[in-house]
Amino acid sequence: GTPTADGAVTAGLDFTPVAPNTLDRVVVPEGYHQAVVIRWGDPLFPDAPAFDFDHQTAAAQARQFGYNCDFAALLPLDPAGRAQLLVTNHEYTGEPFMFRGYDPEHPTREQVEIAWAAHGLSVLRVEQGRDGRLTPRFSPLNRRITATTPFRLTGPAAGSALLRTTADPTGTLVLGTLNNCAGGVTPWGTILSGEENFNQYFANPDPAEPRLARYGVTKTATERKWERFDPRFDLAREPHEVNRFGWVVEVDPHDPTSTPVKHTALGRFKHECANVRIARDGRVVAYSGDDERFEYIYKFVSDKKVRQGSSRSARRHNMTLLDEGTLSVARFTGDSPAEEIDGSGRLPSDGRFDGRGEWVPLASGGRSFVPGMTAEEVYVFTRLAADRVGATKMDRPEDIQTHPHTGVVYCALSNNVDRGKEGREGATEPNPRVGNKHGQVLELTERGGDALSSTFSWDLLLVCGDPASPDTYFAGYDKSRVSPISSPDNVAFDRHGNLWIASDSGAALGANDGLYAVPVSGRERGHLKAFLTVPVGAETCGPVIGERVVTVCVQHPGEVDGASADNPVSHWPDGGDSQPRPSVVAVWRPGRRIGE
Ligand code: FEO
Ligand code: CA
Ligand code: CA
Ligand code: CA
Repeated sequence: GTPTADGAVTAGLDFTPVAPNTLDRVVVPEGYHQAVVIRWGDPLFPDAPAFDFDHQTAAAQARQFGYNCDFAALLPLDPAGRAQLLVTNHEYTGEPFMFRGYDPEHPTREQVEIAWAAHGLSVLRVEQGRDGRLTPRFSPLNRRITATTPFRLTGPAAGSALLRTTADPTGTLVLGTLNNCAGGVTPWGTILSGEENFNQYFANPDPAEPRLARYGVTKTATERKWERFDPRFDLAREPHEVNRFGWVVEVDPHDPTSTPVKHTALGRFKHECANVRIARDGRVVAYSGDDERFEYIYKFVSDKKVRQGSSRSARRHNMTLLDEGTLSVARFTGDSPAEEIDGSGRLPSDGRFDGRGEWVPLASGGRSFVPGMTAEEVYVFTRLAADRVGATKMDRPEDIQTHPHTGVVYCALSNNVDRGKEGREGATEPNPRVGNKHGQVLELTERGGDALSSTFSWDLLLVCGDPASPDTYFAGYDKSRVSPISSPDNVAFDRHGNLWIASDSGAALGANDGLYAVPVSGRERGHLKAFLTVPVGAETCGPVIGERVVTVCVQHPGEVDGASADNPVSHWPDGGDSQPRPSVVAVWRPGRRIGE
């Protein structure tokens, strides 16, 4: 590596950190360029109309880039990676920002159908020019998946009575995917996508059904009122439709006619993501976090082994790997005396928040390990199964990634302001702060480095927040030299093994969200630096750290309290008096590699 401006040496991180700011633009380090790759409403197909904010239609939206891009992946289409497939999730719609004069009590059918078409995923060919810029292209591989695209349920709970509806008495065919937050790229070149806060789309739950309340399905009317336009969103009429969301979905972006699947073997909860690694014997392991306060971290181990190669038949086999296996949940123990974990975030006397843990099995195929629950119930009501085995309640488990060189697993725990509140659990060693506004990043090392292990050790790499505050920790690094960070969400690695973290703090530190990089080994471990910040009201999502280009999704620019399409507070990216548009942004440095 080359020396950084402040004299430190870390391969791939030679850039001057971006200062905290509240600017309505994407701010990158000196010498770097940035440009929008694609915006909400941009056409993905030659027959799609140009975006017209004041004349939107559902038919147009179904052929255009969707709203609120979150996860993103770049899959190379040639060995040099000149052409790539950009796959993005469209997590949710923000109707007050999408439509002028929006009346939340009386949405129109057209507005609702635009929202259905703005959810889901986009697949888009992009080409990288010599200077690093990414340009979108029309391609036969381009695809939109929406809230009405057919999906097949697979795995042990497929066909279960709990998943059958009037429209689908087989319990295997679902229309659409909702609230796709983060995801993962599988080693076989497909995309996993987590259905996260699906509860918000369903109205009128049976109040006597505690299993629905456990998932936050509690309202007699939803915010978007979809239940008025399609009875499947009205649980009084279709009580099982909600059970068909909350899964990890898998999409083969190389086959635009393929039917995407929902893998029931990975359990049903508010999946942030799912990320796959290959164990030494060829079986695959997927980690997934349930992103809500006091929820859990899960691991799935496949029965079958991965088939090498990128042939269609290998991919077809590998797309069944997540259908048969064992689902477990994490139980953490700390090694410091309980009285030293006082909720303040101060380090215990051994100098580390750390300890051991175990993966507690919940179900394997048709066999349940949870007393009083069938295997089908474990898969469909996974949260209740994890409750019963005493899993450890975490501070909002977000993205999870395995380090490409060391095999150490990194999990972002976003925040949990309810920890320590009246009647709620207090501090634990992996979740050491009460009223936790800023979150932490956890390292988990499977025993012997074996992905199949049933036990692990763990420690906190970062306890986030203002580095000047005594309740923060940056792996013991000099806190006067690190960037402030709040609410870690997505994590990714560069080719050098540095960890990159996207934040979703909602300005908890009074500044815009950003993308940060931190070495996880060597003398510079803990030296966190801000690489970019995003515009007002936006969240940074879906980072992809390439050799020559970094991409991020800028989700919900301008989404702050009191703002709307009638009163926009952001005009990014188009400037002037334009409406803000969620977009993918590429960052590069002409003629140079990232961070070098
Ligand atoms: Fe959609 Fe967990 O962030
Ligand atoms: Ca300790
Ligand atoms: Ca997220
Ligand atoms: Ca988040």
